Amino acid sequence: MAKNINKTTFDEATKQKLEIFGDSFKEWLPVFIHDKYTDAVFIFDFFAGSGTDADNNPGSPLILLDKAKGENRKYCSKAQKTIKFFFNEGSVRKSNKLQENTDAFIEQCKKANSCLQCVYEYRILNYDFQELFSNTAIKKVFENNNIAKFVLLDQYGFSQINEDVFKQLISFPKTDFIFFISSSFINRFKDHPYTKQYIDTSKIDFDDKGTKEIHRAVAEYFRSLIPIGKEYYLHHFSIKKGANYYGLIFGTNHTLGMEKFLKVCWKHDKLSGEANYNIDDNWEENSLFAQLGENRKKDAVSKKIKELILSKEISDNKTGLRYALIKGCEPKLFTEVVQQLINANLIEIVGKFNRQSAKIHRIKDLYQIKRK
Ligand SMILES: C[S@@+](CC[C@H](N)C(=O)[O-])C[C@H]1O[C@@H](n2cnc3c(N)ncnc32)[C@H](O)[C@@H]1O
Repeated sequence: MAKNINKTTFDEATKQKLEIFGDSFKEWLPVFIHDKYTDAVFIFDFFAGSGTDADNNPGSPLILLDKAKGENRKYCSKAQKTIKFFFNEGSVRKSNKLQENTDAFIEQCKKANSCLQCVYEYRILNYDFQELFSNTAIKKVFENNNIAKFVLLDQYGFSQINEDVFKQLISFPKTDFIFFISSSFINRFKDHPYTKQYIDTSKIDFDDKGTKEIHRAVAEYFRSLIPIGKEYYLHHFSIKKGANYYGLIFGTNHTLGMEKFLKVCWKHDKLSGEANYNIDDNWEENSLFAQLGENRKKDAVSKKIKELILSKEISDNKTGLRYALIKGCEPKLFTEVVQQLINANLIEIVGKFNRQSAKIHRIKDLYQIKRK
């Protein structure tokens, strides 16, 4: 049985995982507080734990609530629509503790900010995840295009987010999710019938990847489950803890969701935007050769973008910006490549050249790229 994560002090890897959850939610929430096409915002933490660790450090549910307040109440003071948190925890004892911890957190927050009422609603649930996820009322919420959903799935191990759950998650409108998965364990027990009942390990190319790329291989497997032709974005973040590799997988059907998650990942990993260790064997910052300015990931993606522009497969800025996103890079990488090609006199721009590389769904100044 997995050890109880809330009974000891969160280790460094867990703290980083929680920081990424919090940072991602902080990027996500304001978009939907302000979105006029969204009537309500629902946040689900399906494996919520008891609320704190042994030293009272906040766990995911309290982190989400704190981020939702924002510095100087910058988010909660602007919330004018229904915003509801659902914190589910499968253990009765932990769920009761979570109720206590959340009530105390809200009371303390109200007091500290002189609020009579909290604008956010929350419910503590105590269900087995599979039962809750297949609940008809929950399904209705997930299928509702007027409700934005942020979903955290901080499972132990790998058995809960199986192929069926994943396919449902990617089918829901306005639903962004992050799940945790123990990738080393899938690799170690890939031939075991227990593993195979949840994950089709024959579809994961572990042999092709080195040990530290195990989570990349697992992310590739989930990427292969996305129907061909569907516009969908997945990114991953590998977390090394001792000798084991775990990781996060993020999914969204919107470029803005992907932009925001990538921003968080590149903040946490300035070398590759996808790991809490040097996954691509780059020169470390401050190392003797760091000044060479090489970066394996960005250099490889830039090279590919150049090739695709010169072979005319990328012929406008929107396609190019999206390509950078899909490859796990911030879209500004594309504009940098375009500038280099202009400087080298290899291309010309038809339309108005601009360096816009954020909010790419709203780009008004579309330009075409012509080879010279
Ligand atoms: C990794 S911990 C989550 C920790 C939490 N995110 C935090 O920050 O404290 C996973 C939690 O899921 C609960 N759990 C395990 N299996 C579950 C299931 N099938 N349904 C619901 N909860 C489950 C465990 O009791 C545990 O508290």
